Amino acid sequence: MLTNQNIILAISGGIAAYKCAELTRRLKEHGANVRVVMTHAAKAFITPLTMQAVSANPVCDDLLDPAAEAAMGHIELAKWADLILVAPATADVIARINAGIANDLLTTVILASAAPLALSPAMNQQMYRAQATQDNIANLTKRGVKIWGPAQGEQACGDVGPGRMLEPMALVELAKQHFAAADALGKGVLDGITLTITAGPTREALDPVRFISNHSSGKMGYAIAAAAVDAGATVNLISGKVTIQPPQKALVTAVDSALEMHAAALSLAPKSDIFIACAAVADYRPIDVADQKIKKSADTMTITMTKNPDIVADVAALTEDRPYTVGFAAETQNVEKYAKGKMQRKKLDMICANDVSKGGQGFNADTNALSVFWQGGSEILPLTDKKQLGKALIALIMSQFKRV
Ligand code: C5P
Repeated sequence: MLTNQNIILAISGGIAAYKCAELTRRLKEHGANVRVVMTHAAKAFITPLTMQAVSANPVCDDLLDPAAEAAMGHIELAKWADLILVAPATADVIARINAGIANDLLTTVILASAAPLALSPAMNQQMYRAQATQDNIANLTKRGVKIWGPAQGEQACGDVGPGRMLEPMALVELAKQHFAAADALGKGVLDGITLTITAGPTREALDPVRFISNHSSGKMGYAIAAAAVDAGATVNLISGKVTIQPPQKALVTAVDSALEMHAAALSLAPKSDIFIACAAVADYRPIDVADQKIKKSADTMTITMTKNPDIVADVAALTEDRPYTVGFAAETQNVEKYAKGKMQRKKLDMICANDVSKGGQGFNADTNALSVFWQGGSEILPLTDKKQLGKALIALIMSQFKRV
């Protein structure tokens, strides 16, 4: 379950840190790649050399270390992670994470990462019971942070009560359950379903060597296609030119222009149960495409363009064999209003809106967040990597599709 999962073990300064060597060995035994991040206080309880030896990776402990930053910068490390496990998580580090403070490497990496976060609290029982700690934990839970532990029992200080860090094997089990649940999201829910999806940009030719296009990477559409394949669907992926690899088992139709994408979509959509329009289709195309390369002459040139057909609207307008139709909307303001307007105008069953004015979402990014609206409901899928978001969206589409 942990094979090739990238786990950051973030160690803060509590006596339970001595268990981290054992925890790292067990995580690695189960196939995980482990990188260790330590606070300065953690180093008083277990040495970086020990953690480097057991993790087989350099230990990161300083935000301002030029050599460490050159090797793997903190943002790169934050992106590398599939899971961040803070163990032991002291009262202090829990409070800082809750407040969004980034005053050391550990808290900075957490703030800079879209990876799921799990905290394994370890502290004196009275510190754990303190209202401030309980409020911090409750608030983090609301944000989707997993709290693993603490266990009850005798503490290093002699007190008895809640506040012991979970044993390494218990944490390994929870990590395995976490990845199994993420993996199972949507698994099998699309058995017997045919799904067609458009992805990537279109290219609108000016002449044999030039075209007008956009920056769409195809990452979101490909992630949805992969999630649909994993969920058991037969997937037709109609794709503009991109540099990423399609999921194995997807039936790919490669296209260049909006007209080609339109023809492929209108041919496959009536044979599909679900149609998802994720492509960034050019709204207009040049009226005249020169047969030969256009020569440089006048100081200015004018290109007259004509409107492309609206692929998703044409699919949604099918009177026979109409699939459940899902569109996307990239907005910079009034996201809900504009997205819902687009859903009504194009007669879609569902629309997925992303606010492209926010950082880390939309075109070319590895992460995205979506506000999804359908007739009679809505759900926010929070910022996460596009692969995880693809799975969550497939699960959501399926929950609504069944009710049509
Ligand atoms: O109207 P707008 O381009 O913002 O709508 C975006 C949605 O419509 C996306 O789902 C996109 O794939 C789809 N679309 C289309 N054909 C077009 C333009 C947009 O399918 N010509």
